Amino acid sequence: MGSLPTAFLAAVLVVSASAQHGTVFDLPGPIAGPQQPAVNYQYPLGSQPLHEYPGGYYRAVSTASFPVSSAMSGAINILKPGGMRELHWHAADEWAIVINGTCRGLVLKYGTMHPINSWDWNTGDIWYFPTNFAHALVGLAEGCSYVTGYNVGGFDDALDSFGASNWLSTTPPAIVAQALGITPEEVSANIVPGLNTFMPQGDLATLLTNETAEAPVLAGTNAKVQPVMVTPETYRLPLVSATMPEAMSDGGSIYLGSAANLPVSGNMSGAYVTLFPGAMRQMHWHPSANEWQYIIDGSLQFGVFNGTGEVSLGYGGPGDVGYAPQGSGHYFINTGDTTAHVVLIWDSGLFTNIEVNDFLGVFSPSWTATSLGTSIDFVNSFNTSEPDVIAKPAYRPLGAPVNATVPPAVEANPPARSIGVPTPIQSGDP
Ligand SMILES: *[C@@H]1O[C@H](CO)[C@@H](O)[C@H](O)[C@H]1NC(C)=O
Ligand SMILES: *[C@@H]1O[C@H](CO)[C@@H](O)[C@H](O)[C@H]1NC(C)=O
Ligand SMILES: *[C@@H]1O[C@H](CO)[C@@H](O)[C@H](O)[C@H]1NC(C)=O
Ligand SMILES: *[C@@H]1O[C@H](CO)[C@@H](O)[C@H](O)[C@H]1NC(C)=O
Ligand SMILES: *[C@@H]1O[C@H](CO)[C@@H](O)[C@H](O)[C@H]1NC(C)=O
Ligand SMILES: *[C@@H]1O[C@H](CO)[C@@H](O)[C@H](O)[C@H]1NC(C)=O
Repeated sequence: MGSLPTAFLAAVLVVSASAQHGTVFDLPGPIAGPQQPAVNYQYPLGSQPLHEYPGGYYRAVSTASFPVSSAMSGAINILKPGGMRELHWHAADEWAIVINGTCRGLVLKYGTMHPINSWDWNTGDIWYFPTNFAHALVGLAEGCSYVTGYNVGGFDDALDSFGASNWLSTTPPAIVAQALGITPEEVSANIVPGLNTFMPQGDLATLLTNETAEAPVLAGTNAKVQPVMVTPETYRLPLVSATMPEAMSDGGSIYLGSAANLPVSGNMSGAYVTLFPGAMRQMHWHPSANEWQYIIDGSLQFGVFNGTGEVSLGYGGPGDVGYAPQGSGHYFINTGDTTAHVVLIWDSGLFTNIEVNDFLGVFSPSWTATSLGTSIDFVNSFNTSEPDVIAKPAYRPLGAPVNATVPPAVEANPPARSIGVPTPIQSGDP
């Protein structure tokens, strides 16, 4: 990405995904023997238990269960109408994309006296909440589903966030009483000891009343806290509906949200990727960012090259997660017969990627040929103008294998899982 000329974007013709339906690649079958890839870069999040709360659902993965994702973590979250992700904050930046419905959210910036506005995030919109900025979300009339990514490997929102309910319910009632100017009796009568609501169910109409009003506790005259003007900065970017794709070809598209188009997202960025059957995200690496991947739908093969001798192959289906460490060479390819949608999240607000075609093409052919132990003629036959999303090549016949040198780690091409997997948005399809 990044190097794609706008003229090219405008010039490409996009073929209908349905024209390619019916094509299923044979995946490389398991090789006899207990072989495993050297490292597992995929995690079957989609088949893990879904945690249910009164106001929604939640399924998360961190280094606790997926050790290789040492710098990032994430979750799929679903809020029912009026369901709330309670007031909370956490010691990790948060980047998210809504994949169905609408979430309303409030953000409390450091130093501000009241929430600095509310936003409605619709399907295809992204948000960014900097570390320890308190925030809360409510599912509107149809509820909302959203994928969150965090730039801390061990972070689990349900275990590691500072929630308002748990804070107040575990503090001595006399302290809470003094803090809020009420009596200990009132605290005891109204706060359940040890409560941790996480995703409580609220009444939507009530939640939408006074939502931006200054909270009474903040409206006092505490001289130590100076009101700060509400800044014009935004925490919302309608990524899919209002930005140009970073890359678009007859293989699919990539929408990129970064500090370049959402300035507040200084430490994280992400993308919404559509791949038609057989299309591949070009082999590339990120010099300065780790990548956390969430599959909304489709069947994909991933290859991660960590520089120590082999490419680890993995497979993922709807709801599954993958990881590509900073600097590792990687690709993914849609091996199914339906369009695939993948969310990518990086732990850097601005970052670069280097595609294999640009990489090899930038050196003189003799250097590349010598490096590869091959001929200059062969190197000259490379097409170094391939787009970032490459459509299924004509030479690959139907059913031809995507050859592998390493057998799959877990079940190949896991079946689609319905529980908790939100229906994908359609607007990302070019
Ligand atoms: C890279 O892969 C090798 C095996 O090929 C493994 O021993 C090593 O731990 C991996 N390194 C990282 C950083 O994942
Ligand atoms: C709305 O604000 C008023 C004035 O602060 C308050 O009395 C009332 O309880 C609030 N209603 C809701 C639903 O929050
Ligand atoms: C980025 O992370 C650094 C270190 O944690 C922090 O100080 C800074 O406020 C963050 N910036 C943004 C824009 O989130
Ligand atoms: C190289 O790839 C580009 C982009 O897909 C394509 O337009 C061009 O025709 C290709 N060149 C050759 C020689 O195949
Ligand atoms: C896959 O491997 C087979 C057998 O080695 C070979 O005939 C075929 O050309 C390979 N296909 C691709 C797409 O590389
Ligand atoms: C989104 O969520 C609603 C409500 O749960 C559901 O009816 C719908 O099928 C989902 N998918 C899309 C694409 O709207």
